Amino acid sequence: MPTPENPFVFGEIIDEPGFVDRTSELNQLVRDLADGQKVFLLSPRRFGKSSLVTLALLRLKKRHIHTVNLTVSSYASYAQFLEKFAEKVLRAAGPWDRVKNWITRFGRSVKPDINYNMTSGEVSLSLAKGQAFDPSRIAPDVFALPGELTKNAGFRMAICLDEFQQISEFDSGSVENAIRNQVQQQREVGYVFAGSQPSLMKEMLSAKRPFHKAGPQTFLDKIPASDWREFITRQFRKRGRTLNEAGIEALLATADLIPYDVQRIAHELWDYAELKDKRQLDVSDLNSVTDSLVAGQSTYYELLWEQLSAAQRGTLLALAERGPAEIYSQAIRSEYRLGPASTVQKAVQALDSRDILDRYQDRYFFLDPLFPCWIRKRVS
Ligand SMILES: Nc1ncnc2c1ncn2[C@@H]1O[C@H](COP(=O)(O)OP(=O)(O)OP(=O)(O)O)[C@@H](O)[C@H]1O
Ligand SMILES: [Mg+2]
Repeated sequence: MPTPENPFVFGEIIDEPGFVDRTSELNQLVRDLADGQKVFLLSPRRFGKSSLVTLALLRLKKRHIHTVNLTVSSYASYAQFLEKFAEKVLRAAGPWDRVKNWITRFGRSVKPDINYNMTSGEVSLSLAKGQAFDPSRIAPDVFALPGELTKNAGFRMAICLDEFQQISEFDSGSVENAIRNQVQQQREVGYVFAGSQPSLMKEMLSAKRPFHKAGPQTFLDKIPASDWREFITRQFRKRGRTLNEAGIEALLATADLIPYDVQRIAHELWDYAELKDKRQLDVSDLNSVTDSLVAGQSTYYELLWEQLSAAQRGTLLALAERGPAEIYSQAIRSEYRLGPASTVQKAVQALDSRDILDRYQDRYFFLDPLFPCWIRKRVS
């Protein structure tokens, strides 16, 4: 019998059979997008936003809603982002007959190069280049496109702009205005703006910024432990293996329930079990897998550690050993010689902006849950 593929996938978009939980979030998102709502999806890195959105768009596609998925951070400039936005929207709206009138009109005001491949049916588009080209001038026309195409056309669209917090890198503010002004007029088009840095996204949604009150915000939670337990047990059982209760608990605790890390550690454990052909797995197996993952990262952690200030290192050590609950307390501060609470606060903020820590349910946590494992090992 051929060896089955490792069922634990990380660093990729998760599709249907391996998609754990999130049923109500998925249904809600599908409903909102089908209704033409503009929704904001926030969570720290690697919680599963892109996977959730991708699955929602797939569901919508099955309902004949035309879908577009763009990752804002993939584009080097505002002009390139506009180009790809227009291109993907035109492709999604296709066939050619439907879009060609619009292209002629758009062509007059914007003068892009538009190519249409008769055999593949694909549209490709490029905007004027050169120094004098000002993307913000044509942005309103480009962002109006989904509305123009769907108006009276008898179909709906759903558009995802992923890593949306990056949009403000393109220019100072006018891009947010341009998008907001256009999308709010598009009744037939649902939008999901997904963002990985909740603090930046929160800022973008604050009063005085164009997206303030533009639509509902959803903060994507972690996937509950019970769903992971069931999923992990089922996968190992299919291969005739068992991971005992304590082993699963240790896995989920080490991964801090961050979906990416749960999958990553489970993936390694699967390979380890295959290699050793072990049927009964427990905490000791889990620990040896975690140790080798941490060891594999140690050069990187070492370099990172060297770049941190003494206050930042002290704070991380206290967090790694004692958790986030009482990081500002007198007892912890004196035990770890952290100095006044204001110093700890400054250290935490610096670590947050370096993407070492982030906040979840009002507490700080390590974005990489293996880093505290390395820190603890270092001092032991
Ligand atoms: N519903 C899910 N079921 C199973 N695994 C999941 C799920 N959601 C996320 N994961 C795991 O987490 C990983 C990261 O997911 P995804 O890329 O969707 O997150 P993200 O929030 O978009 O991350 P980033 O902020 O880095 O873009 C996936 O590759 C997968 O291993
Ligand atoms: Mg993502």
